[in-house]
Amino acid sequence: MGKKLFISNKDNSFKKTILIDGDKSISIRALLLGSQAQGKTFIENILLSEDIINSINCLKKLGIKILLNKKNCSIYGNGLNGFKFKKNITLNAGNSGTFARLILGLLIKSPYYIKLVGDKSLSQRDFERVIVPLQKIGANFRINKKKTLPLKIIGSNFTNPIFYNENRGSAQCKSTIMLAALNSPGQTIIKAKKSRDHTENFFKYLGIPISVKKNKIYDEIKVRGQKIFKSFKYKVPSDPSSSAFFIVLTLLSKNCELKIKNVNVNQSRTGFINILNKMGAKIKIKNVKKKYGEMQADIFVKSQPVLKKINCPSNLNSNLIDEFLIIFLVAAKANGISSFSNLGELNKKESPRLKLGSKLLNHLGIKTKLTKDSIKIYGNPYIDLKKTINIGNYFKDHRIFMTSVIAAYVFGGKWQIDDVDSYKSSFPSFLKIIRELGYKFKLV
Ligand code: S3P
Repeated sequence: MGKKLFISNKDNSFKKTILIDGDKSISIRALLLGSQAQGKTFIENILLSEDIINSINCLKKLGIKILLNKKNCSIYGNGLNGFKFKKNITLNAGNSGTFARLILGLLIKSPYYIKLVGDKSLSQRDFERVIVPLQKIGANFRINKKKTLPLKIIGSNFTNPIFYNENRGSAQCKSTIMLAALNSPGQTIIKAKKSRDHTENFFKYLGIPISVKKNKIYDEIKVRGQKIFKSFKYKVPSDPSSSAFFIVLTLLSKNCELKIKNVNVNQSRTGFINILNKMGAKIKIKNVKKKYGEMQADIFVKSQPVLKKINCPSNLNSNLIDEFLIIFLVAAKANGISSFSNLGELNKKESPRLKLGSKLLNHLGIKTKLTKDSIKIYGNPYIDLKKTINIGNYFKDHRIFMTSVIAAYVFGGKWQIDDVDSYKSSFPSFLKIIRELGYKFKLV
């Protein structure tokens, strides 16, 4: 049994500056690319969450020396396809869909079968989405009928550059094929529906031959493979997805002001800020600078008593895919009926988040209309709970846990939230920052 968190006191106000943990997507990419670089790569401010520790352990099993000193990480890469390992190894990706999918792209030349496993939540997620294009490149798989973990991959000496049409708007799928392209001869071409572009930015920063033609809905990405690249230095910016919880806490509380420093503000990640501002928030992004190929800035937010409903444009979905749960809370407190559509992918995350997000709002007494891929939320700006609320978090989904904590402080009531440890997969400082802001809770 995991620990439980009890919250029964919502009233608080603060005026603070905080620093959020390093970005998860960028930390994983830094590790993977460091493992393929020639020589010692040095990463500062790496996220020290369970997903990252699992990623590091897997890379170590693949023969990569990695040293961690607090948030500084040294990776001793052996160059492209430089993994050195014995037969029959098993990699355990834990809860990390990003690592589990992206690592497959770097294993397309593996001379032996490698087994990939994950925790209960990851073992329910779809891998066909990356298996199909990787098979075209030349990899072979042993996998169950549902195309879920555990799976086995063996590579091939004869890999092909492919044309890949990525039409889900999934950065994981796109990045897996971009990493596979590093070890393929010639030019891999990807037509990718828009999604976070950290891998593209990283390739450019490292001088890996890449061209990106940005169109309105799809980008065309061309990668030339088999080009050696040198080790590098990198500093990971703070995670906008983690920041979103504290932005919403500030917004929905009374008399609060927050500054969050050095956050990644890549446009493919800040869709939630655009949506919140359209709902009437006045979130400001200041001191913008480009560092290591990514934009970073300070974010300023103040409490906002009146918020409007939103009809969320679905072409923005992949820009806020990890923030929908917390945006649903804002919609619950907004004036009017908000709607979100084309969100089938949200049910394919660490838990079926569209369904569970709706269930969470129903617990609060908020009416929703849910379909397979859409939700309507009937907001109530006067919501002030007195009742007892118990959140099961059966899938141990970190974002369900953190969203529930924010809901408890914003809406009141007596809360018991299960599986506390789930937040450690993405945001280990979450509860520490909750305390720093003056909130109280009991951990049992
Ligand atoms: C991620 C991409 C997104 C996101 C995940 C991290 C990444 O998944 O939900 O948390 O780092 O590429 P999809 O690409 O599957 O939408």
